[in-house]
Amino acid sequence: MNILILGSGGREHSLAWAIKQNPKCDRLIVAPGNAGIADVAECAQIDILDGAAVVTFAEENAVDFVVIGPEAPLAAGVADACRAAGLLTFGPSAAAAQLEASKAFTKEVCDACGAPTADWARFDQAEAAKAYIRDQGAPIVVKADGLAAGKGVIVAMDLDQALAAVDEMFGGTFGAAGAEVVIEEFMGGEEASLFVLCDGEAVLPIGTAQDHKRVGEGDTGPNTGGMGAYSPAPVLTDAVLRQAMEDIVQPSVAEMMRRGMPYQGVLYAGLMIENGRARLVEYNVRFGDPECQVLMMRLGGQVLDLLQACAEGQLAEARVNWADDHAMTVVMAAKGYPGDYGKGSTIRGLEAIEESSLQTVFHAGTSLQDGRIVASGGRVLNATARGADLAEAQARAYALVDAVDWPEGFCRRDIGWRALP
Ligand code: AMP
Ligand code: GLY
Repeated sequence: MNILILGSGGREHSLAWAIKQNPKCDRLIVAPGNAGIADVAECAQIDILDGAAVVTFAEENAVDFVVIGPEAPLAAGVADACRAAGLLTFGPSAAAAQLEASKAFTKEVCDACGAPTADWARFDQAEAAKAYIRDQGAPIVVKADGLAAGKGVIVAMDLDQALAAVDEMFGGTFGAAGAEVVIEEFMGGEEASLFVLCDGEAVLPIGTAQDHKRVGEGDTGPNTGGMGAYSPAPVLTDAVLRQAMEDIVQPSVAEMMRRGMPYQGVLYAGLMIENGRARLVEYNVRFGDPECQVLMMRLGGQVLDLLQACAEGQLAEARVNWADDHAMTVVMAAKGYPGDYGKGSTIRGLEAIEESSLQTVFHAGTSLQDGRIVASGGRVLNATARGADLAEAQARAYALVDAVDWPEGFCRRDIGWRALP
């Protein structure tokens, strides 16, 4: 089977690493890829937001299966273009990708199917939004409706901050994503993520994870795309998982079918768990990054069979073979991230690292320059390992971090602290 993966981050490196282990995988191509992905796959330069270009490339290269990593090509309809051309494709249609591309859309789906989530209202005028906020009081959450690269959410602890957020959003800080604003009840509790494959009808949970969004130790400082993650998430006990599937995921998937936009791909449910009960914070229509890295570490080569069953509509027969293990990934970022950071510094020591099914360093933002591996993004490497328990996975992940010689990088030293004694 010839496989094309779209994307260039740590998520896509881990997908390529796992898929490559499956004996069914013949040619593996990743577009555009990065310096680490180039070790396990061919990298190709195509515009992954252009459905026609992706289809042409896939046809010219006898690709049998297209796996779409990030949300932008999904929202742009690349999965639709691939399926229309008869290509087996993993990832939702543009219509179904509204579950990530529009917060108001997701809230309407929740209301229609009774999925528990924060109370909400939508506004396209600042004054009405502010009146609503004054009426509700703080804490309260202000969100730009559209895709804002994970930055369009302000959890306001007081009224002034909430009112300022409304001005900022209608003032155009988030571009078109902020033309409409969703205001939500603040939910307390502990956050965790649930990843579920859906083939339109059948659903199959394939793992849980928790990530650390803040840049600083103890979960302090500015928000990032994620500084590390671990799987499983202890807060998602069997009972909570069952409740989340029954109350949130299954009704949402059925509602999407009812709307004529069956959901096919991975549904990433961001959950808030309080008093043993989960409510939905948000959906994403792709794997999390860096959550994908820990899921792939735990699933290994079987992930190709699972993604294929999903794309073929055969998920009802699919099963996950669980090793009773734990995985952790530690993000190594360029100093300055998530603010301004330098690019082009050299990373040494990677060749000497012994990689195995227990431990590997995924590349997130690297490129090759004159035979050297250089940092080319904010989040650069993901030191990823598994173990019999989380402490063992953590020890292995930090041993990998310590083997990397990159003075221009940094990481948090406390990934997993909530789940460790
Ligand atoms: P989102 O992009 O919707 O996931 O929001 C980003 C982050 O904001 C989430 O991961 C939560 O930590 C926080 N958040 C979003 N909505 C709420 C809410 N209604 N109550 C509390 N925290 C929230
Ligand atoms: N790590 C959070 C995300 O991928 O959205």
